[in-house]
Amino acid sequence: MEFSWSIETFKTLPSTQDLVKERAQNEGAASGLVIHADQQSAGRGRHGRSWIGQDGNLFFSFLLRPSFGVSAVGQLSLLVGVAIAQGMIALCGHQLREDLKLKWPNDILLAGRKCAGILLETQLSEDAQSFDWVAIGIGVNIISAAQEEWSCLSEYAPDLAPTILRDEILARFSVLYDLWQAQGFDAIKALWLDLSFEEGSDVTVRLGERKICATFAGVNDDGGLLLHENGAIRTITAGDVYM
Ligand code: BTN
Repeated sequence: MEFSWSIETFKTLPSTQDLVKERAQNEGAASGLVIHADQQSAGRGRHGRSWIGQDGNLFFSFLLRPSFGVSAVGQLSLLVGVAIAQGMIALCGHQLREDLKLKWPNDILLAGRKCAGILLETQLSEDAQSFDWVAIGIGVNIISAAQEEWSCLSEYAPDLAPTILRDEILARFSVLYDLWQAQGFDAIKALWLDLSFEEGSDVTVRLGERKICATFAGVNDDGGLLLHENGAIRTITAGDVYM
């Protein structure tokens, strides 16, 4: 599928994600709508957390009206992570490739410190078999990180413009989406695993109040996290993962 991106840019918005969702829900916006803001005043992260929106970093969201079934959304989430990673590697070079790791489900780490995040939100169709829309929000720390333990791209690419990185990510996303549709998830999974941690790495997963300590065993065919725990394989579909 060829995406034809329709990009709208704003100086400041509360949240690019909220505007994409509003356009999808209330105005019937088409697949390919991209909302970009230089700054966000009420950016949102996963699990209801806030995402601080300082000028110079990248904040955008885009809309899909996909035909795939609901079970494919975990695969799509990993695909988006690969697109961001490929975009960064293309623009920031070899050192970044060495430092970059994808952490399930969709954080991008540089030398173990978070540099980018993805917020994927959906609206189910009436029959609940597919989606009316999927909104994908991407935040990348380019010049600064909101938290001390996070990282940003400035040491790898001092003059990187947010719009250049956005366009590279969108271009990579289109190619990967085509690959996914043509060859299935195996091709995407292989790319994701190549950019992630080695199997056998220690993982801690927080599930509500509970903590699981295990080792990384890859991802399954739905994009779920596989862990080795006490000699058995366990699948995780949601939770905070620390590696
Ligand atoms: C995460 O928690 O890791 C996901 C962060 C996603 C932030 C992006 S910034 C652009 C878009 N608009 C938002 O309000 N959130 C997403």
